[in-house]
Amino acid sequence: MTRAKTYTLPVGTEDEKRLQALNHICNPYTLDFLDRSVLDLSHKVVLDVGCGIGMMTAELAKRAGPRGKVIAVDISEEQLAIARNYADKQQLNNIEFICLDVNSLAQIDVRAAFVYSRFLLEHIKEPYHALQEMNKLLKQGGHLFCENAISYEAMFCMPESIAYSDWQKVIMLQPKLHDTEFFIGKNLYNHYLAMGFNAIGYQLQQPFISNVEDRIQFHLVTQSKTMQELLIEKGYYTREKLLDITAKAVELMKEDVLVTFPQYIQIIGEKA
Ligand SMILES: C[S@@+](CC[C@H](N)C(=O)[O-])C[C@H]1O[C@@H](n2cnc3c(N)ncnc32)[C@H](O)[C@@H]1O
Repeated sequence: MTRAKTYTLPVGTEDEKRLQALNHICNPYTLDFLDRSVLDLSHKVVLDVGCGIGMMTAELAKRAGPRGKVIAVDISEEQLAIARNYADKQQLNNIEFICLDVNSLAQIDVRAAFVYSRFLLEHIKEPYHALQEMNKLLKQGGHLFCENAISYEAMFCMPESIAYSDWQKVIMLQPKLHDTEFFIGKNLYNHYLAMGFNAIGYQLQQPFISNVEDRIQFHLVTQSKTMQELLIEKGYYTREKLLDITAKAVELMKEDVLVTFPQYIQIIGEKA
């Protein structure tokens, strides 16, 4: 299994449903921000870095059109296998999938008009270096669009419940499981400035998760094998306690409650 050492989540079919839920929740907001930024991707070379199971990649490929192209990069072969299958099912022939660490992007000989990356930098030891690697592949006048976590504390469920607050305490430990700057979203604007970007547009995003199946999949993450093992190994929880907390949160998600996704930043800048 290929997985970055600092990646606390499972990859491949084990995490497919959770990533599908994430895409159902976030893609409309991603596409909306793209539209409002009036970025036309048709005929363009687009890069999707840390593409995961490729659902957003497919959307980008539709926008790039048959005379454009998307290069989708991920460190995990398992993720890319799912992403390829998804693209094939939609008969998208303008995507090239490359298995590569973001820190080795220089191996790709391309100048892209648009570089996109969502929820990758949270899992990278040196996120500013990764951003610079993305920037190197961007043409002058091209755009860099990142979406990254700002806060887990801002998440809530209404009505309030112990089942939810117990679950939130678990998820809030995720940033402590690996030595990465998990809430990198807070620093992105400064990083864009430091790289000399122009016309930086940004907004805070925190969707509600209204679909019950998406809510369940999203909250099941606390019993994913990789996260469970780290939480137990570091002495935060026993397996029984974790399974109990997750089961109660999942039951709650079936009720008529208001639940949010984590807070994150969307930011687009133009390369000077
Ligand atoms: C949370 S997922 C997000 C996937 C996708 N961008 C989305 O929003 O649906 C993060 C992805 O980054 C990939 N990843 C983790 N570390 C990486 C690295 N060093 N280089 C490239 N990809 C990496 C993981 O394999 C995973 O597919």
